[in-house]
Amino acid sequence: MLVLGIESSCDETGVALYDTRRGLLAHALHSQIDMHAAYGGVVPELASRDHIRRALPLTQQVLSQADKTLQEIEGIAYTQGPGLAGALLVGTSIAQSLAMALNVPSIGVHHLEGHLLAPMLEEHPPAFPFVALLVSGGHSQLMRVDGIGQYELLGDTLDDAAGEAFDKTAKLLGLGYPGGPAVSQQADLGTAHFQLPRPMLNSPDLNFSFSGLKTAVLTLVKSQPTLDAETIQNIAWEFQESVTEILVHKCLKALKQTKLRRLVVSGGVGANKRLRSRLNEAASKRGISVNYPRLEFCTDNGAMIAFAGAMRLHAMQPAKQDYSFSIRPRW
Ligand code: KG4
Ligand code: ZN
Repeated sequence: MLVLGIESSCDETGVALYDTRRGLLAHALHSQIDMHAAYGGVVPELASRDHIRRALPLTQQVLSQADKTLQEIEGIAYTQGPGLAGALLVGTSIAQSLAMALNVPSIGVHHLEGHLLAPMLEEHPPAFPFVALLVSGGHSQLMRVDGIGQYELLGDTLDDAAGEAFDKTAKLLGLGYPGGPAVSQQADLGTAHFQLPRPMLNSPDLNFSFSGLKTAVLTLVKSQPTLDAETIQNIAWEFQESVTEILVHKCLKALKQTKLRRLVVSGGVGANKRLRSRLNEAASKRGISVNYPRLEFCTDNGAMIAFAGAMRLHAMQPAKQDYSFSIRPRW
């Protein structure tokens, strides 16, 4: 089954073609980062308008990359939520209109299921069951995954997501948007000098809390006579150590609790180099395998939506054809 996937939940328009027999055929992405950077964060109305401009040219691009025609598409997957309402509406309406015109089934995909399954697009996909750490701008979750659609939530953030903490810390340090890569870059130049808390590191559950860490960064920033380059680098270093230590610790705890020996990491924060090296080190000591999506599939992309949609459409053949649409911004 040849499935077109469209992602438009936030500030990236991603389109991809996934074939259930041959795998990922093509994917294309337009990031709006430069457009929103001037405002220090995503402006929803600008995001929607840009998705409108990009979605069809990107669709044409993936079709020509894969040497396919529109008429060869056998199913369409789109991000139905969670995300920005206007942005979701663009992808959803384009996907449903195309599906109706081509008379093929379509499916709304949960954006997080897309992230969760992104490592399955790699050459050596992890076998089920596994523990998944999903760390993005909006979520920090630990899950037990037994198969496609078989997810058990083990832990969640009580307040801010890990990516959100990176973004807010970046703002406090004057590093702009998007915060994760900027903080990480500064952290690479820093060293151990300050001390920040490790919220909920030793809590008996698998939950996270990152808002107190952000407040601690704010207090630390305010206590500094000047925010020079070295201070910024050292605060970024300590902040990154705190987040990665908490994430690694809770992953190990989840693996212990579930007695599983496979860990899968996905979402934008999964691109963080320090997190990867600490996780790899902790896992190899314990004989645990860790899978990550390639870096470009950690952050938002169309390939993960095409894949998740293809798995679901394929499993429910003959799929119901329903071209009415509703988005689920807070799904
Ligand atoms: O998965 P994603 O692209 O979008 C959401 O679904 O939220 O994740 C974006 C988040 C942002 O908060 C961004 O700052 C963070 O992932 N991020 C990073 C890195 N790259 C992206 N955080 C830490 N280190 C990185 N290298
Ligand atoms: Zn995402």
